[in-house]
Amino acid sequence: MFPRDFAWGAGTAAYQIEGGWQADGKGASIWDTFCHERGRVCGEQSGDVACNSYQLWEKDLQCIRQLGLTHYRLSLSWARLLPHGTTPHVNQKGVQYYNQVIDDLLACGVTPMVTLYHFDLPQALQDQGGWKCPGMADIFDCYAKFCFQTFGDRVKLWITINEPYVCAKLGHEDGIHAPGLKEEAGIAAYLVGHNMLRAHAMAWHTYNSLYRAKQGGALSLAINSDWLEPLDACCPEDVAATERYLAFTLGWFAWPVFVTGDYPETMRSAIDARSKKLGYEGTSRLPSFSKDEPAILGTADFFALNYYTSRKVKPGEGGGGEMSLSMKSDRDVTEVLDPSWPIPGVSWLAVVPHGLRKLLKYIKDTFNDPAVYITENGFSQVGPLQIEDVQRSEFYRDTLMEVARAIQEDGVKVRGYFAWSLLDNFEWADGFSVRFGLYHVDFADAKLSRTAYRSGREYAQMISKSKSKSNGESS
Ligand code: GAL
Repeated sequence: MFPRDFAWGAGTAAYQIEGGWQADGKGASIWDTFCHERGRVCGEQSGDVACNSYQLWEKDLQCIRQLGLTHYRLSLSWARLLPHGTTPHVNQKGVQYYNQVIDDLLACGVTPMVTLYHFDLPQALQDQGGWKCPGMADIFDCYAKFCFQTFGDRVKLWITINEPYVCAKLGHEDGIHAPGLKEEAGIAAYLVGHNMLRAHAMAWHTYNSLYRAKQGGALSLAINSDWLEPLDACCPEDVAATERYLAFTLGWFAWPVFVTGDYPETMRSAIDARSKKLGYEGTSRLPSFSKDEPAILGTADFFALNYYTSRKVKPGEGGGGEMSLSMKSDRDVTEVLDPSWPIPGVSWLAVVPHGLRKLLKYIKDTFNDPAVYITENGFSQVGPLQIEDVQRSEFYRDTLMEVARAIQEDGVKVRGYFAWSLLDNFEWADGFSVRFGLYHVDFADAKLSRTAYRSGREYAQMISKSKSKSNGESS
């Protein structure tokens, strides 16, 4: 049912699995700082040790091989490579670690997809103002260049920034992710999103002009989006609210990169209208791209989509408050859950596999029919744990069926699927209470032993069937 060269993957992120937060000269990241402050993370947990993949990489590799993955998505810890965030000081032990990971993957016939930034800014850069500062884009570009130069002979699939939406909103508006800021609601998140887009575009242009010809890789940014549809498809207000919500989430990052080089008009006009209403003086809270900087439009070689859930939408400020300055108030929507969608794990994740197919079709139609990698998708268990997790096994089957339909019936160019996640890991503010792994990790055992869930074993079977079918067809 899947193309012959379909990428079968699973993903992880450095802070969620590596541990070794101070090992061998690593610098601190904003997640180290955030977790060490009281009250930030469920149960005061942290990624100090996590799955200890910094020392137990070989165990992860065994899992990857057992699953039969063709691709593995990992992220680099910026502060492990550049403890102060900038290039004069390179931590060679960090370089060695990632060289080992990349070389081992390739030796096993597994293609690495490498994310440069998965939420963990070096603390030294946060101390200088972090993503709110325009200068961060240039600093990121230098870091990206360092990574292309160091690993790009072997890494051919790059993600610059993972989920700028989450970094901007959860980190700088809601304050529930590092760096935990919420004092400038309705302002800071737009600034952060803007600088992330500029950083991404600069890195893409650097790759394009200096490395592409020699290294021949492809690069994008990973955009998260729910599938959104009007609560009542016949109600114009619900339809408009859905468009607005899409503009403030998927469109915020995809529109500039894939369609116009600028933010969706719906987003800008909603923000500006609201600023006026509140008597907010000055320039638009949504910054503008400068013509003197590298263009944003066209800076993705494929669409990288993280999809987890779906929502129905109607108008209403969604708790933002009528007269408050906030993103919620700007976008003016209320999310509604369809009662038929099960929520078996973490509370925000209603399981809706068919939403993925609809979203893929929407992406094809809206963003010029790009090649798509589904760079994250999964659902979690929250205790009591079941190694025989039948429901999650069914979820993967149903989801992959929807992906196959998107390819065959809707003609979406889906190139690969990365389950989130290879391992149970540190799930940000939820700590270890929420488990997304294909492999169970026993965090109570000093050896942090990994055991395949049923969903992992069945995913392996699906991969193996698909591979043998395409081999059969080609012989
Ligand atoms: C994404 C994030 C991942 C993972 C996942 C599940 O937003 O990129 O790191 O935590 O959500 O919640």
